[in-house]
Amino acid sequence: MEHPEPTDPHTLEQQVEFLKQRLAEAQKLTALGELVSTTTHEFNNVLMTIINYAKLGLRHRDAATRDKAFDKILAAGNRAAKITNTVLGLARNRAAGQEPTDLTRLIEDTLLLLEREMNKYRIRVEKQFRPIPEALVNGNQIQQVLLNLLINARQAMPGGGRLLIKLSHDPECDMIELVVRDFGAGIPPDKLPRIFDAFYTTKTGPDTSGKGGTGLGLSTCRDIIESHRGRIRVDSTVGRGTAFTLKLPPARPADPPPSFGAPVVHQPGMADSPTVPG
Ligand SMILES: Nc1ncnc2c1ncn2[C@@H]1O[C@H](COP(=O)(O)OP(=O)(O)OP(=O)(O)O)[C@@H](O)[C@H]1O
Ligand SMILES: [Mg+2]
Repeated sequence: MEHPEPTDPHTLEQQVEFLKQRLAEAQKLTALGELVSTTTHEFNNVLMTIINYAKLGLRHRDAATRDKAFDKILAAGNRAAKITNTVLGLARNRAAGQEPTDLTRLIEDTLLLLEREMNKYRIRVEKQFRPIPEALVNGNQIQQVLLNLLINARQAMPGGGRLLIKLSHDPECDMIELVVRDFGAGIPPDKLPRIFDAFYTTKTGPDTSGKGGTGLGLSTCRDIIESHRGRIRVDSTVGRGTAFTLKLPPARPADPPPSFGAPVVHQPGMADSPTVPG
């Protein structure tokens, strides 16, 4: 590309526009790479289960062992089908449109993709989901946001730990609230203002599972949330952990209050730790 006179405000504007487009492309590629790497690893894991139990069934002729092997193979096969369905769903739903979406389901699907990875790094995922109205979102894009927040949280706890996901409806602003909280390293106050900048990263490169280090994750998250007229906020304390809070619009005006009762999924003793910010 020719380099026009950089002081011409008109060309500067064009250059900024051009670079913005390049950035958007890079963001999409990173997200796709992350998804491919996640699903391939998960799928491979399921295949290993199937292969190992098939071998077990062949080695042991007794009915009890064979039944167990078939049960495990069936369960793994069903899991594999769920994983491919999620990816196919993502591929089909490439449109930029926003539609009424069940966020609880979307989170469960995303967690399914990360199950092996979270186990491997000894991350205990806790869910506190309240009944919420459908959100007006692009499911693909929100899944991309979730993947990045969850992988960031996992990477902030290299020795394992607790990862809390909360979903609720805030009646005051009539927005759906999603919190992804880790109990990891935290972010120093001087770094906090930069984390949403494109290419800002403190990671030296991909980790052992091939993820992280481009610095595009949070800038993509912010762009996506803004395009939904939502909000993204971070609270972090060094040594205690980090919480990202997303607010997303519901698809229709909220139902009257009685429908937002007790949590559907609430694990006993998993209340928010009072020592962590947010
Ligand atoms: N949960 C978290 N705990 C601690 N630090 C975090 C957390 N999330 C983000 N950060 C910090 O913000 C930086 C930017 O995050 P971002 O997701 O944009 O990029 P990245 O994870 O480094 O790379 P990638 O493009 O692969 O996502 C990270 O490098 C890290 O320093
Ligand atoms: Mg990231």
